Amino acid sequence: MPKFPPVVQGFPHLLHGGDYNPEQWLDTPEVWDEDMRLLKAAHCNTVSIGIFSWAMLEPEEGRFEFGWLDAIIEKLTANGIRFNLATPGGAKPAWMGQKYPETLRVTPGRERLMWAGRHNHCLTSPVWREKSSAINRKLAERYGRHRNLAMWHVNNEYNGECHCPLCQDAFRAWLRERYQNDLHQLNHAWWNTFWSHTITDWNQIQSPSPLGERNVHGLNLDWKRFTSDQTVNVFRAEAAPLRELSDVPITTNLMQYHGLDYYKIARACDVVSWDAYPSYHERPDDAFNGAMFGFYHDLYRSMLGKPFILMESAPAQQNYKPVCKLKRPGMHRLEGLQAIAHGSDSVLYFQWRKSRGSVEKFHGAVVDHHGGEKTRVFQDVAALGQTMAKLDGVVGADKPAQVALIYDYENHWAIDDARGPRNPDKGYLPTCIEHYTAFWNNGVSVDVIEPTADFSKYKLLVAPMLYMLRPGAAERIEAFVQNGGTFVTTYFSGIVNETDLCFLNGFPGPLRKVCGIWAEEIDTLYSDESADVVVADDGGLGISGAYAGIEFCDLIHAEGAQVLATYGSQFYAGRPALTVNRFGKGKAYYVASRNDRRFQRDFFRGLVRQLGIPRAIEADLPEGVTVQTRTDGEQEHVFLLSFSRNACTLSLAGERFVDAESGAAVVDSLELPPYGSRVLLRTLEHNS
Ligand code: GLA
Ligand code: ZN
Repeated sequence: MPKFPPVVQGFPHLLHGGDYNPEQWLDTPEVWDEDMRLLKAAHCNTVSIGIFSWAMLEPEEGRFEFGWLDAIIEKLTANGIRFNLATPGGAKPAWMGQKYPETLRVTPGRERLMWAGRHNHCLTSPVWREKSSAINRKLAERYGRHRNLAMWHVNNEYNGECHCPLCQDAFRAWLRERYQNDLHQLNHAWWNTFWSHTITDWNQIQSPSPLGERNVHGLNLDWKRFTSDQTVNVFRAEAAPLRELSDVPITTNLMQYHGLDYYKIARACDVVSWDAYPSYHERPDDAFNGAMFGFYHDLYRSMLGKPFILMESAPAQQNYKPVCKLKRPGMHRLEGLQAIAHGSDSVLYFQWRKSRGSVEKFHGAVVDHHGGEKTRVFQDVAALGQTMAKLDGVVGADKPAQVALIYDYENHWAIDDARGPRNPDKGYLPTCIEHYTAFWNNGVSVDVIEPTADFSKYKLLVAPMLYMLRPGAAERIEAFVQNGGTFVTTYFSGIVNETDLCFLNGFPGPLRKVCGIWAEEIDTLYSDESADVVVADDGGLGISGAYAGIEFCDLIHAEGAQVLATYGSQFYAGRPALTVNRFGKGKAYYVASRNDRRFQRDFFRGLVRQLGIPRAIEADLPEGVTVQTRTDGEQEHVFLLSFSRNACTLSLAGERFVDAESGAAVVDSLELPPYGSRVLLRTLEHNS
């Protein structure tokens, strides 16, 4: 679909604004009035309110106070500012912890936490669920049909797990369902004859703990799956009254985190939203973080295959990184436009106004302790707001991709848990991001998808380190290749099934046929070692000479696949290092070693060229620059984003564009200053 309806019905504009905590300023009402003036001065149109307001909304059990919320909503509405209304489940009030200790979370070490902090409720507690449902119902009754309500922001950054007795029981019930009430199935799935771990009574099962079981990989995986499912249950329960009493979209803000299976949470949302906190300027190469956050934005866009909401980002310096850098000139605009370029229909911040006290008082805000609009940060925010106001055309625009990269949370957990062949960190996520970066550097659109997604719309499917194969995954990959798709996988793929049991009869297990190889052994290298990878036959990809294989080297046999490169050193010199197998109408590549960045660049550039996959601009991009597009079927917004500390010149490959902000024609080439960003318009030609 080239164009989606705006997330906020009847509001076809990019959302600009952020988390707003007016309840911190109840004693100084003039601050609220000043906020209204400043919100307009910063070209903001949306705030998120009520995120941590439970104690202010229900000061005593069952006694609700909505007066202050009514008043601020009225003020926002009078000033033309929309609001996302949060449910307050992210932090429970003190009275609840005191009266109902069962709502307090229990750690893996089986200690019950005291009432404190936030994001610490038990995922199962009926009392917590009842109380959160009750307050959410009140909120939905009171504000669910408010004309200025933009969307529901349920809870905040769900994360973590609870090991209390209620959660143990819920886990056992979940296991009974998964294993059809049959302990034999469970014992087999977890390979429990190992170390005499056979379970003979469901009540012997306990969640993983440093005091108890940590080494049963099937158990660890199931516990993580259960925790994700339980979080989705909490979300659904919190959302139920909102669904009943309101029509606006419901979301919960995700983050850069892999403890929960976010694909599952996304499926329960109307729109995906997330909180992006990159560490720009932490190292000389900002392109590293630029590509990483491109990956995350694309992941969240791909989850529902439509525009997402950037719910939080730092308008300025964060306060919790080891070194909290100020944003260099240009960075604020670049970071905001980057999110939009990858599919966000908003740039929202944490936070609008800095709190005076407590732990986040030094976290960047649009309005600083200074209080006014004369700060550099405020001016940067206002300038981005002005730019965004000129980009209505991008609202709802799609970002179609012909390349998909599989990133799977379950695979991630399983790889992290595996003991061997290289410990401790096997680098699954960095490897996915590194593969993604090869496309980012080329201005090629990528969807980041789960292994159960539909592959048929893609030309190229890249699945690095696909260690775990879910049931049916190999068959679907085979069908994809059979029908003409190109598949790329790597070392350490096709090793275990969904309960972490190894495939027998040769790796890469069920992928052996489509890849046309047998992976017999895997060598791992110290960080100062490498194995040469020497190209024998480039297969038309334009790769040549020798590259460096690092960290992981699979020793494979070609079983029908053509050998494109061989190892040039180590005792396995001469054995295949890169193969391609023709299968049906398509091809499957097996990259046997983890390779240097040069290989990644050359190999994927060659594939993109060979498969005729479009680049945003048909020119090689300067180092640190990416180009991303969004299209509505008629025209394309082309975002030029430079994460380079140096100025650079970008060729436009002979195309003619219009600058989306100034309307000026742009031809031939353009200069980008350090951290420069531009938005151009391309009119699409239709073949009639
Ligand atoms: C998270 C939270 C916010 C705030 C920010 C600070 O994203 O949702 O409440 O703590 O981090 O960066
Ligand atoms: Zn619990």
